[in-house]
Amino acid sequence: MLTGRDILTTKQFSIKELDLILKTATRFEQALKEKRVLNNLDGCIVASLFFEASTRTRLSFEAAALRLSGRVISMPEAAVSSLAKGESIADTAKTVDGYADVIVIRHAQKGSAQTAADYAAHPVINGGDGSGQHPTQALLDLYTIFKETGDVSGLTITLLGDLKNGRTVHSLSYLMAKYGNRMIFASPSSLAMPAEITAELKSLGGDVSETSDVDEALAESDIVYVTRIQRERFEDPAEYERLKGSYVIDMKTVARAKKGIKILHPLPRVDEIATEVDAYEGATYFRQAHNSIPTRMALLALVTGRA
Ligand code: NCD
Repeated sequence: MLTGRDILTTKQFSIKELDLILKTATRFEQALKEKRVLNNLDGCIVASLFFEASTRTRLSFEAAALRLSGRVISMPEAAVSSLAKGESIADTAKTVDGYADVIVIRHAQKGSAQTAADYAAHPVINGGDGSGQHPTQALLDLYTIFKETGDVSGLTITLLGDLKNGRTVHSLSYLMAKYGNRMIFASPSSLAMPAEITAELKSLGGDVSETSDVDEALAESDIVYVTRIQRERFEDPAEYERLKGSYVIDMKTVARAKKGIKILHPLPRVDEIATEVDAYEGATYFRQAHNSIPTRMALLALVTGRA
């Protein structure tokens, strides 16, 4: 169903495809638990092109490829690559397309993964295109929600933080809408979800509301998805300084929230979740980071037709 496909945005998926990704991830997670050696990507090369900072996305994609017996070629920091000499994304993609069977790319420019996909015949996976989309993060978030709550629909989820610049929430919101979940957007007013995304979600039948009252939102939520303020997307550093620290989840917040609320965060965390919350059993963010392995294994295996 997904063989040969690019993964560029969460808007592209049908429920059937999403269910297949969840099922495949579950199968790989079980295989990992049983310490089975998997050869799905034997003979395959995965190109890992990260032109923007990354810890989890890059390492987990590379680990996922290795877990499936694939090999990885990795781009050094952008500064020492030819993009620094002025090469275009198109030319880079055309070139790497001849070196690998699948390309994972992260770049600060919105639309960069789409451009790479336009020029590469092999599947391109978007590892984050600026403030655009981060579909594989949203898929591992979905897998986490499924594992933590036993369901992917009928939920109320608050998306909290920098909804303007945060690509993870842009991606996750389309998946939540697709499964008919109720979404509450909570952010400082200057970091609200872009109007065109909210409008599109509504036109797709999404149940979306906005608030600035975090306590009120969390009192009704099964899940809160917290994001950091995306400092690197700010033109004016003073604006970042003004906004930083404007929302913090601590155990007092948790005590006021709906009982059993699950707290997700794509990480890295700066100061928006107090470390005291880490011991709370509904704090899923480190489990969530580990769920990236089976999810990204599933994606690599599916797009290469080797699941
Ligand atoms: C996110 C990203 O890069 O967009 N990180 C990640 O991939 N886990 C979130 C962020 O940087 O805030």
